[in-house]
Amino acid sequence: MTIIISRSLIPSCCSTLASSSRLFTRSLASHAYMAPSPSPSSSSSPTSSLPIEATTTTPTDLTDEQRRLIDSIIRVDQAGELGANWIYRGQKWAMDVKGDKETAKQVEEMWENERHHLTILSHLQTQHRARPTMLYPLWQAMAFGLGASTGLLSKEAAMACTEAVETVIGEHYDDQLKALQPLLNPTDPSSPAPHPSLPLMADILKEFRDDELEHLDTAVEEGAQKAPGHSLLSAIIGVGCKVAIKVCEKV
Ligand SMILES: [Fe+2]
Ligand SMILES: [Fe+2]
Repeated sequence: MTIIISRSLIPSCCSTLASSSRLFTRSLASHAYMAPSPSPSSSSSPTSSLPIEATTTTPTDLTDEQRRLIDSIIRVDQAGELGANWIYRGQKWAMDVKGDKETAKQVEEMWENERHHLTILSHLQTQHRARPTMLYPLWQAMAFGLGASTGLLSKEAAMACTEAVETVIGEHYDDQLKALQPLLNPTDPSSPAPHPSLPLMADILKEFRDDELEHLDTAVEEGAQKAPGHSLLSAIIGVGCKVAIKVCEKV
C-alpha cells in the first residue's frame, strides 16, 4: 500500500532521508503485519511478495552479539512507542480539560499513528522473542505526566514536547538503521542472504522514523518554538529521552 505524505521540515539530524521535497510517496512496510492470516499451504503473505517467514519466524543463525542487537532494538522501540502513546494520552487529556478541541484533534491524529507503531512493535517483540522492558509502569507514568503537564502549560509547550521527543526518536531510528546494516549487507560474499524478517524490520524502522518526523513537522508548524522557555524545555526533554533509551537498552 502506498500513501502520499506532506512534510515541510527535514531536520539536519536525519539527513539520510531520501527526499527533501515537500511531497513524496512511500510504502508502508508495517502493513505486512496487518494482513489476514495466511493459509497453511501459502508460502507468501497474501498482500505482498514477502515470504511468510518474514513475519512469522526469527533468524536462527545470528551471533550472540547480533541477537543482543535485535533484542535491544525491539525492546527500546517498544518502550519508546509505549511512551509516545502515553505522552499523547496526557496531552489529549490536558486539551480536553482545557476545552481546546482543535489541538485535541491534532493530538489524536498523531496518537493514532503511535497506536499503530506500538501494535507492530508488539508483533516484532513476539516474533523475535525479544525481552520487553521491565520498566513499563515507570515509562507509562512518566510519559503521561510529561504529556499532561506540558499540555496544561500551553498548546505551544505541548508541541515543544512533541518536537523534542520526535527529534531524539528520529535520530534514534536512524542510528538503529545504521547498526542493522552489517546484518543486511554482510561484507563476506559467501554469507547467506539475510533472514527476510531483517530487511522488513529495517523498512519498518524507516517507515516509523518518517512518521515521527511528520509529527515533528506538525509540532513546529503548530508553534512549538514559540513556547516560553523553548530551549530549556527542549534540552530537558531531549536529555530525558536519551536517558530513557539508554536504560531500555539494558532493562
Ligand atoms: Fe511512534
Ligand atoms: Fe511520534
